[in-house]
Amino acid sequence: MQTRVLTGITTTGTPHLGNYVGAIRPAVEASRRADVDAFYFMADYHALIKSDDAARIERSRLEIAATWLAAGLDPQRVTFYRQSDIPEIPELTWFLTCVAAKGMLNRAHAYKAAVDRNTETGEDADAGITAGLYMYPVLMAADILAFDAHKVPVGRDQIQHIEMARDLGQRFNHIHGREFFVLPEALIEEQVATLPGLDGRKMSKSYDNTIPLFAGGKKQLRETIMRIVTDSRLPGEPKDPDSAALFTIFRAFASEAETTAFRQALLDGLGWGDAKQVLYERIETDVAPMRERYEAFMADPAAIEAILQQGAQKARAIATPKLAALRDALGLRSAGTSATTTAPPKTATKQDKMPRFASFRDADGKFRFRLFSAEGEELLLSIPFADPKAAGALQKRLKTLGAAAAVLQIQPQGMILDLDGVQVASTPDYRDAQSRDQALVQLRQALDQLAAQD
Ligand code: TRP
Repeated sequence: MQTRVLTGITTTGTPHLGNYVGAIRPAVEASRRADVDAFYFMADYHALIKSDDAARIERSRLEIAATWLAAGLDPQRVTFYRQSDIPEIPELTWFLTCVAAKGMLNRAHAYKAAVDRNTETGEDADAGITAGLYMYPVLMAADILAFDAHKVPVGRDQIQHIEMARDLGQRFNHIHGREFFVLPEALIEEQVATLPGLDGRKMSKSYDNTIPLFAGGKKQLRETIMRIVTDSRLPGEPKDPDSAALFTIFRAFASEAETTAFRQALLDGLGWGDAKQVLYERIETDVAPMRERYEAFMADPAAIEAILQQGAQKARAIATPKLAALRDALGLRSAGTSATTTAPPKTATKQDKMPRFASFRDADGKFRFRLFSAEGEELLLSIPFADPKAAGALQKRLKTLGAAAAVLQIQPQGMILDLDGVQVASTPDYRDAQSRDQALVQLRQALDQLAAQD
């Protein structure tokens, strides 16, 4: 089975070398793997939270699309689209908003930081903060959950957002009694370098220390590289490669052999000016062919548009039926066409979706039972009882127990349910951590459903 890997790129800036090394290059590489089903999109609704400069957003969307395509992204293989071309995303945002705990959103880092800044300067806590910023994590959760992504490659600053997406997916699943959403996991690439910028701090637009990837052509690339800060050692004096930003940048592009040679040259006293020229040439070797493709795309926005429209179609082929199922579950069916008019009302529909017990006699003539989820998956197998009444009594207990009161021992192979210190039932063995998580969610959900009905 393929892993669905999904990530969004906020369209406010112009791609720089740090974006290329830290995000674009690894994402393009990952998208070529046979076991990866990649969904990459331009988060232009998120961009609206950060910027009201329409021209800048428009330019950035184009530049970012052209950059990813120039960097080798194959739109036939990958689902590559713009968030704003998928109306299911804002629709799902609302559904998730309705289950989102306001207290959870209060704790989001970006919102909290804005509140803290206000408090420090003696302003009203929410001064200048839009509801857009506040809702940022819910929109992001919709991006992810609409496509049932398994893995979401992000920077460390985004981990909390992925956890919130899990939380929202889980809440929705729980409230509506079905596994509507895959619960996503953050994918943090440890080996991927964060590139230092001109001043040695992390390369970032907010520090104004970036080296452009394509903008300004090779002339701009060379000029910017010449501005990388170094110490004041003269040509002929040995340099310390490990404290030099330009060495770290070089290493992100070069092979191991090239890196070793460059390190030795610096130790042997290569002048900083010459070192920058070596760095420029090494980067230009990689960037030149991409820049050519980039410029061709930028000169043909209609070609980009056609690619993105195809991507939107591919993405919507998944999101449209998904949202239809959600609308159904939420009671937003069109009147007259629905199962509600043909099937008996509420209680019976509820009955259909209930977990159930199935009793049987095992080979030794003992009485046991299984608990199945509403979808028919086996959740629990009871211990054997000599007396069928005892088995029945246990079923009764389980019906009223509720997930909060259940004591579950998590074992390497499966879970054991304890009642009053006695092991009374066990789950089937799980295949992996994910199936364990899922089994746990399903079991808790089933116990809550039974308790709610009782
Ligand atoms: N918030 C992400 C960032 O700033 C961008 C983003 C938007 C995203 N939606 C997403 C990333 C969904 C991953 C998945 O980097």
